Amino acid sequence: MTAAAVDWARVRADFPALDQKVRGKPLVYLDSAATSQKPRVVIDAVRHYYERDNANIHRGVHWLSEQATKAYEDVRKKVARFINAADPRECVFVRGATEGINLIAQTWGRTRIGAGDEILVSTLEHHSNLVPWQMLAAEKGARVRPIPMNDAGELDLDAYAAMLSGKTRLVCVNHVSNALGTVNPVARMAEMAHGAGATILVDGAQAVPHMPVDVRAIGADFYVFSGHKMCAPTGIGVAWAPLATWESLPPWQGGGDMIASVSFEKTTYAPAPARFEAGTPNIEGVVGLGAAIDYLTALGMPAVAAREAELLKVFEAAVRGVPGTRLVGTAREKAGVVSFVMEGVHPHDIGTITDREGVALRTGHHCAEPVMRRLGLAATARASVAFYNTPQEAAALAAALGAVREIFRT
Ligand code: ALA
Repeated sequence: MTAAAVDWARVRADFPALDQKVRGKPLVYLDSAATSQKPRVVIDAVRHYYERDNANIHRGVHWLSEQATKAYEDVRKKVARFINAADPRECVFVRGATEGINLIAQTWGRTRIGAGDEILVSTLEHHSNLVPWQMLAAEKGARVRPIPMNDAGELDLDAYAAMLSGKTRLVCVNHVSNALGTVNPVARMAEMAHGAGATILVDGAQAVPHMPVDVRAIGADFYVFSGHKMCAPTGIGVAWAPLATWESLPPWQGGGDMIASVSFEKTTYAPAPARFEAGTPNIEGVVGLGAAIDYLTALGMPAVAAREAELLKVFEAAVRGVPGTRLVGTAREKAGVVSFVMEGVHPHDIGTITDREGVALRTGHHCAEPVMRRLGLAATARASVAFYNTPQEAAALAAALGAVREIFRT
């Protein structure tokens, strides 16, 4: 389906949280990069699970446990189709992108990274794809080096090429920057990493909700994302890697469901993905993720991407039209995010005043302090859009920013 063929007003009506007033004004929700709103089908799927299918999985011989296990494993197949994984077993359920990266650091990282090795991390990374690598580097005597970016928020691929060497073990990059919206050339970066014999991990938390993602076409070694940014519940996400990679890795957390056999003399581990899913998992989250994938698949990710590209232009123009504002992050390829500053106004004041108008923004460093530092800023205000936003909401944002301007004029 193309963006023009979708009835976006009807789609918006699928999201009950969007139909409310806050502080006496219609809610204008512009914080989807922090977490997306949830369509009724996802909320209903979670409720149905608890009303009809609730049981622990992979353990019971009884009917309900079989139902719950089937629901859980069926979603793994949906995830694999959604990101074009070769095999559902390549998709490990985790708490979110952050836990996925920590899983990779504690399994792949601890067994593959040693003293003197280099981990290249893009300046655009969220703390979740930097801090776990700093922790590992401190433990192993490895070195974390930043891949620089230009003033527009685009990574410097020439500098990246020059940094790749025989010492490079790992490259970490987000597919889309949460702070600036830059879409990074991850397929090209994967090719370059592999040319140097390095492994590459792509954080897709801000990409999977907004565009079609094909992990095999990207060619990365690891790809992680969170459910809650793509219309699913919080507390569920996916870490993807080829099956051979998972099979080569030691377990991370020990416990039930990740073992083949246990004795005091010798314990052996289950094959992937169970090896990495110790304990009772977030079954309701997985069920909700499945419903979210069905919902997004029915809309069509190309239509979602096209709709959001149109909205991004409208929102950028609305912000630019307010005197004294400046966009932060002007990469040629962007998705979903309009970061900005306003002359003479602290971003937190922007967010507090727009909130009084019902407009929800995020303000601060967006868990990406190195990006802010590189741009000489402490913080920005950020409007992040999803397909359920409207051009009228861009006008509401502009009006709210006009109110901010008025307050700070006097
Ligand atoms: N990473 C999320 C954001 O960008 C929380 O807001």
